[in-house]
Amino acid sequence: MNILILGSGGREHALAWAVMQNPKCDRLICAPGNAGMAAIADCASIDIMDGDAVVTFAQENTIDFVIIGPEAPLAAGVADRLEEAGILAFGPSAEAARLEASKSFTKEICDASQAPTAGYARFTAPDPAKDYIRREGAPIVVKADGLAAGKGVIVAMTEDEALAAIDDMFDGEFGDAGAEVVIEEFMEGEEASYFILCDGKTALPIGTAQDHKRVGDGDTGPNTGGMGAYSPAPVLTDAVAQKAMDEIVNPTVAEMAKRGTPYKGVLYAGLMIKDGQPRLVEYNVRFGDPECQVLMMRLGAQALDLLLACAEGRLDQAQVNWADDHAITVVMAANGYPGPYEKGSVIKGLDTLPEDSLNMVFHAGTAKVDGQITATGGRVLNVTARGDSLSEARARAYAMVDGIDWPDGFTRSDIGWRAL
Ligand code: AMP
Ligand code: GLY
Repeated sequence: MNILILGSGGREHALAWAVMQNPKCDRLICAPGNAGMAAIADCASIDIMDGDAVVTFAQENTIDFVIIGPEAPLAAGVADRLEEAGILAFGPSAEAARLEASKSFTKEICDASQAPTAGYARFTAPDPAKDYIRREGAPIVVKADGLAAGKGVIVAMTEDEALAAIDDMFDGEFGDAGAEVVIEEFMEGEEASYFILCDGKTALPIGTAQDHKRVGDGDTGPNTGGMGAYSPAPVLTDAVAQKAMDEIVNPTVAEMAKRGTPYKGVLYAGLMIKDGQPRLVEYNVRFGDPECQVLMMRLGAQALDLLLACAEGRLDQAQVNWADDHAITVVMAANGYPGPYEKGSVIKGLDTLPEDSLNMVFHAGTAKVDGQITATGGRVLNVTARGDSLSEARARAYAMVDGIDWPDGFTRSDIGWRAL
């Protein structure tokens, strides 16, 4: 079959890598893609936010299956346009994507299904929000309701910080995303991510992971999109995972179906776990980046069969062939990230590294310029490895990092520390 993957990050390179290993894939096109994807597939420059453009491209290229990577095209209704055109797609409708695109909608779903999550209140004006913060005290969490590229959440350790966040949001720092604000109880515990495929009726877990959001070793410094991840997440034991399915995920799937907006795609549940009890922090309607890289490393070729079963509504007959393995990914970022950084520096040494089922460098922000791989973004490479244990996988990944000659980039040196 002919497959189109939408997106240009490490997540989409990992999806492309897994899909390409499955003999069902005859031709793969990535749009817009990056230098890593260009090495294994064709790349096309289409506007992935424009559903009609995606449909036209898919028709012209006899695409049988479209995998939508990022949340923005999902929230913009690209999956809906494809479905209307009769093209099989992986990813939720715009209505169902509200589970990520609106924090207050997710809270409504949690209320309706009595799912454990942080207590909260919603506000559309600053003064009542500030009164609420003064009553509740700190620590407290202030969230812009809408999509804010991962930046719309302020975990305020003091009341002043929370009050300032209210001013910023209602002053338009996050645009329309901040027109409504959700204020939440601060939850303590350990965070982990749970990935579940849903076809509207059946929910099939496909893996757990933990990421490292802070830029510096020891989880210090500013927040980033993620500096590394590993799978599985030891804190998500079988018992905790079962509770998360029973109390959070399955009730959400049932509630979405009841409302006539069934959820189809991958549901990424961000969980806070304390004393064996999971609570929902947030949903995302896509794979995590870089969590997807470790999941794909572990799933390999079967990932395509699972995504197809999901899109075709056959998850009740699907199963995951789990291996008793571990995967880790170490992000190489441009010096300065998450602050200002230079673009265009040259990365060498990649062609000397192994590329197999145990070792892969997924590209995030790269392009090939005059035959050389150059950095075009903040997070640039995802150095990913698999092993029988996390420490074996980690040694493999850092050995690859040592083989990459890129003076303008850096990594954290302690990815996986919590699990080790
Ligand atoms: P979100 O975008 O909702 O994932 O929030 C970003 C991060 O903020 C989460 O990964 C948590 O680390 C933190 N966070 C969000 N909500 C809460 C909460 N209610 N209590 C504690 N931490 C939170
Ligand atoms: N790594 C966090 C995310 O993808 O949202």
